[in-house]
Amino acid sequence: MLRRLLLQASATRRLPNGYFVPPYSAPLLHNRSVSSSTSYSSSSQIPHSPFVEHAENHPDQTTTQPTTSITIDRSGLYNPPEHSHEPSSDSELVKHLKGIIKFRGGPISVAEYMEEVLTNPKAGFYMNRDVFGAGGDFITSPEVSQMFGEMVGVWAMSLWEQMGQPARVNLIELGPGRGTLMADLLRGASKFKNFTESLHVHMVECSPALQKIQHQKLECVDEDVTAGKRTVSMLAKTPVSWHAALEQVPSGVPSIIIAHEFYDALPVHQFQRASRGWCEKMVDVAEDSTFRFVLSSQPTPATLYLAKRCKWAGNEEIAKLGHIEVCPKAMELTETIAERIASDGGGALIIDYGQNRVVSDSLQAIRKHKFVNILDDPGSADLSAYVDFASIRHSAEEVSGEVSVHGPITQSQFLGALGINFRVEALTQNCTEEQFESLRNGYWQLVGEGEAPFWEGPDDKVPIGMGTRYLAMAIVNKKQGVPVPFE
Ligand SMILES: C[S@@+](CC[C@H](N)C(=O)[O-])C[C@H]1O[C@@H](n2cnc3c(N)ncnc32)[C@H](O)[C@@H]1O
Repeated sequence: MLRRLLLQASATRRLPNGYFVPPYSAPLLHNRSVSSSTSYSSSSQIPHSPFVEHAENHPDQTTTQPTTSITIDRSGLYNPPEHSHEPSSDSELVKHLKGIIKFRGGPISVAEYMEEVLTNPKAGFYMNRDVFGAGGDFITSPEVSQMFGEMVGVWAMSLWEQMGQPARVNLIELGPGRGTLMADLLRGASKFKNFTESLHVHMVECSPALQKIQHQKLECVDEDVTAGKRTVSMLAKTPVSWHAALEQVPSGVPSIIIAHEFYDALPVHQFQRASRGWCEKMVDVAEDSTFRFVLSSQPTPATLYLAKRCKWAGNEEIAKLGHIEVCPKAMELTETIAERIASDGGGALIIDYGQNRVVSDSLQAIRKHKFVNILDDPGSADLSAYVDFASIRHSAEEVSGEVSVHGPITQSQFLGALGINFRVEALTQNCTEEQFESLRNGYWQLVGEGEAPFWEGPDDKVPIGMGTRYLAMAIVNKKQGVPVPFE
């Protein structure tokens, strides 16, 4: 009965991918970038640093972003605060960050702050614990539904076919989190032996804690072989290796690279337009020993990347902006990916939230499914920024003429074209009422837009569709032609 009611409720709802909503979930957790209660469509909903106020007013293109405001406080730049000798309750990471600022005799860039906060080997946000899911800080698409990893598996297998079914392929995932996407991909592909037998899975993960969780998730066993030991995932009998960076993955074999919510964790530099031109936003220690933002008094090394990004954008786009974010690490990673694909063959799939133009001011902090202040208790909240897909395109095209870049298209279009609607229909054929609910909510979160129209539960738990906020882009070797479903 419930199922019929739900079907009726959703029967006429058309999705952004052109399909109608089937009646189909997941725990009602907040996605990293939005939920009904955490959406940041208005600046009032984002906590701001209490240490800042407007330096200059400039029109800003990104309407969904809050207007960041900053004091140009040169006393903080030139007169490091006196240090008290009272015992400090600062965390190890806070002490470390303050130590860098003191040692340098001046503030650090937002990018350096972000990198330390996320990946400092001792106390970085990702390094020592599981931050995903209901008990963690945020949830991602692979954790929402198995269908996400399965559909990425369909994409990888289609690309492998277009590559001429090579006998050996590196299947590389960048920033695999709990390993859920890869587990669902391998489980779904395990029937296709020719494909899975060609694979060597490479997990690029900086966090030792997450590497352990991934090992368990992939049901890995360590085997003795003539050349020593190797680790094999029992999900599809594929060898698995771990690396801290993409450069460490052996080359010379075609690669299929997956980066889901990886680019958004790469450190961004933030710039603000001031009367003397573009100034980099920096993190400093205020007199009361808290962190605060200041503007650089002179050009910083990252200004070179700002100049490059502005050149790609053109004057008209830049003239509208008062703030700009640039991500040199994303540019460099894209170059590494494009060079590898150009020389070894294969392709990369990048899925993330972001936009296909310059990103203005998007850096956000999330703790326990709520937006918090970026400077508050660093290391206890996730920091992430919108991905600049146009910059990825330029970086790839500039470094190699042998790769082509496709998209971005919306996640809804991507998953729809790969057949998620058939998959959800199949999964709901033989399931319990509870599984049905879970599948329906998860499906909506992956491909829907806004609040689920069929929802009858509490308002603060309504599933929010992310189908148009997440974008998918592919970089492939031109020899492979246009990848599915970017035709
Ligand atoms: C936002 S999580 C995404 C996890 C996963 N892809 C998902 O969608 O559930 C970012 C992942 O990238 C990893 N990571 C972040 N920065 C990294 C870096 N510089 N090198 C390697 N891994 C990194 C984190 O440890 C984490 O596994």
